[in-house]
Amino acid sequence: MTAEHDLPAVQDGRLREPPDLAVAVRTVFGSDEDDDGADGVDLARRYAGHLATTAVERGLVGPREVPRLWERHVLNCAVVGELLPPAALVVDVGSGAGLPGLCLALARPDATVVLVEPLERRATWLVEVVEDLGIGRRVRVVRARAEEVAPGRPGALPAADVVTARAVAPLDRLAGWCLPLARRGGQLLALKGRSAAEEVEAARSALARLGGLDPRVLKVGTGLVPVPTTVVSVTVGAAPHPVGGARGGEDVGGRSRAARQRARKPRG
Ligand SMILES: C[S@@+](CC[C@H](N)C(=O)[O-])C[C@H]1O[C@@H](n2cnc3c(N)ncnc32)[C@H](O)[C@@H]1O
Repeated sequence: MTAEHDLPAVQDGRLREPPDLAVAVRTVFGSDEDDDGADGVDLARRYAGHLATTAVERGLVGPREVPRLWERHVLNCAVVGELLPPAALVVDVGSGAGLPGLCLALARPDATVVLVEPLERRATWLVEVVEDLGIGRRVRVVRARAEEVAPGRPGALPAADVVTARAVAPLDRLAGWCLPLARRGGQLLALKGRSAAEEVEAARSALARLGGLDPRVLKVGTGLVPVPTTVVSVTVGAAPHPVGGARGGEDVGGRSRAARQRARKPRG
């Protein structure tokens, strides 16, 4: 049990990372400015500040998570940024408190991110945090279930380069929701725990039926974070899309693909 005096303090709206994670934070979020002139590390600390305060007050994050927000949540999600292609359009399904979608938006300022979250309380919080961080030009919140934003539905999103999800559903069900949201050749990146390999085996026939190709279990963040993140990647084949449904890389956040490309910052 963590004593109250052990809880990290939020100062000036920012939650600083523990000293042993300082290198990881600087490496993942960088220190250079994004194309809106904001410092990535500062934005990440402000986001973590929200997780530790408003997200707890509003029941999006359990109070016991606060001492491990950086390690288990923010960094654990953000390291997945290394798997994104340049200037990617990312759709994060079931974002909750922005995990992993907001972390990826902060780690990769070249990306445009759509946070898909059906619960009003969570979607409202996400809108407020995006506005407070000043990243609304490249991060959009859509209050919907993944099925409601699939091709052919009135609220359909442009096809994503990458669809992400963490702690939303078992892989077979998740694939049914997420694969139709990606362009052909795009990817589902599902953040999973220790049972990732078994989930892949259990979902193999569902993935094949849905046009999900080449499922792989990957580790990211090795040598950077205490516990590397396990990701199941699935490449999107032809099956889930209606004819003409795959429209990779269209703009949803007010930025063209070229603008996202220009904003790409080198990782150090
Ligand atoms: C356990 S929470 C995980 C939240 C966040 N991804 C995380 O890792 O902390 C699951 C989230 O998925 C959302 N969700 C459930 N079914 C969904 C669906 N069909 N489409 C989109 N989101 C869904 C829920 O509203 C909830 O916010």
